Amino acid sequence: MKIMVIGGGGREHAVIKKLKENKSIDEIFALPGNGGIAKDATCVPIGATDIEKIVDFAVSKKIDYAVVTPDDPLVLGCVDALNKVGIPCFGPEAKAAIIEGSKVFSKNLMKKYGIPTAKYEVFTDMDSALAYLETAPIPTVIKADGLALGKGVIIAETREDAKKAVISMMQDKAFGKSGENIVIEEFLTGPEVSVLSFTDGKTVKPMISSMDHKRAGDNDTGLNTGGMGTVAPNPYYTPEIAAECMEKIFLPTINAMNAEGRTFKGCLYFGLMITPDGPKVIEYNCRFGDPETQVVLPLLESDLFEIMNATTDGTLAETEVRFSDNSACCVIMASQGYPIAYEKGYEITIPEEISDSVYVAGAAVKDGKLVTSGGRVLGAVKTAPTLAQAIDGAYGLVDKISFGNAFYRKDIGARALKAGR
Ligand code: AMP
Ligand code: GLY
Repeated sequence: MKIMVIGGGGREHAVIKKLKENKSIDEIFALPGNGGIAKDATCVPIGATDIEKIVDFAVSKKIDYAVVTPDDPLVLGCVDALNKVGIPCFGPEAKAAIIEGSKVFSKNLMKKYGIPTAKYEVFTDMDSALAYLETAPIPTVIKADGLALGKGVIIAETREDAKKAVISMMQDKAFGKSGENIVIEEFLTGPEVSVLSFTDGKTVKPMISSMDHKRAGDNDTGLNTGGMGTVAPNPYYTPEIAAECMEKIFLPTINAMNAEGRTFKGCLYFGLMITPDGPKVIEYNCRFGDPETQVVLPLLESDLFEIMNATTDGTLAETEVRFSDNSACCVIMASQGYPIAYEKGYEITIPEEISDSVYVAGAAVKDGKLVTSGGRVLGAVKTAPTLAQAIDGAYGLVDKISFGNAFYRKDIGARALKAGR
């Protein structure tokens, strides 16, 4: 079997490492992959959004199955294009990926089908948005409609900041077309939980829960990033909350997408907040999270490739999705200055004996050496019987890895540990 994985981050590295456990897979191609992924797959220099080239490559190599991991190719219709030439895929078609691609769509879906989420208004012109903000409750949350590299959400603590955010999105086009329409929503409070799930459009099987750490600095200070570390499971996701989420959020979402003629297959990511009124949806993603995947997949005991095929074939109900009772921790090592400006090209040293525990995100091979090439450079991942051991283990790995201008948070998992497991 020849498999192709679209994307080139730490998440894709985690997917590829897990797929390699399946003995029917002979070769894995990563498009474009990265310098670290090159140890585990054949990297092909085709960008993740270059759909025409992806399809040509897949046809010429007779690829048997494709895993489309990042949001933008999914929203742009990469799965549709590959299906058209007869290549089965893991991931939703564009008409279902819209659940992440448009916040206006997802908010309206939740309202129509009674799925718990923050109260909101949609605005298509700036003057009405500014007028609404004169009396809106503060703090408030302003969201660009479309994909914005995780930066399209602004939490405004004052009316002035809220207006500035609206002007930057709608007049100054800070996020281009993504900010032409915006959502202004109620500010919710409570711990956040990420739940990735497998679905074939009929059955939904949640993966082990996880907790992201989005801010760049310790104690949740500094700028929002793609994620500086994760732990799994998330102690706030109790069995009672899990049952409530299945009944009020997960199944209703799958059914709502079917009712809209937009059957979702692949990985549906529920970004949840456990508010005093119960769990509510903060966002949907149409894909695996990064760096959630780096803690979730190492705990998966069942065969990932079989599960992926089951989401494509509609046989997920009969397919085992089993997770270990262990905990996992991922500490992201980034380049100083991320998420704004950072230098690249520093040599990365990873001792061979720990390389299996390292998921490489932003690295290239130059003159035979692995060098930094991105903001988030790699994730050090440890699984262990307890969360405390997993955290200690992950930081133990970090101590053995080095590259110029490295920085990482020192408190990944601290909140989860305090909360209980
Ligand atoms: P998103 O890109 O939608 O995940 O939003 C980024 C982050 O903003 C989330 O992880 C939350 O921490 C925060 N956020 C988004 N929406 C809300 C909300 N309605 N109330 C409070 N915080 C929010
Ligand atoms: N870690 C959050 C995301 O992948 O969107």
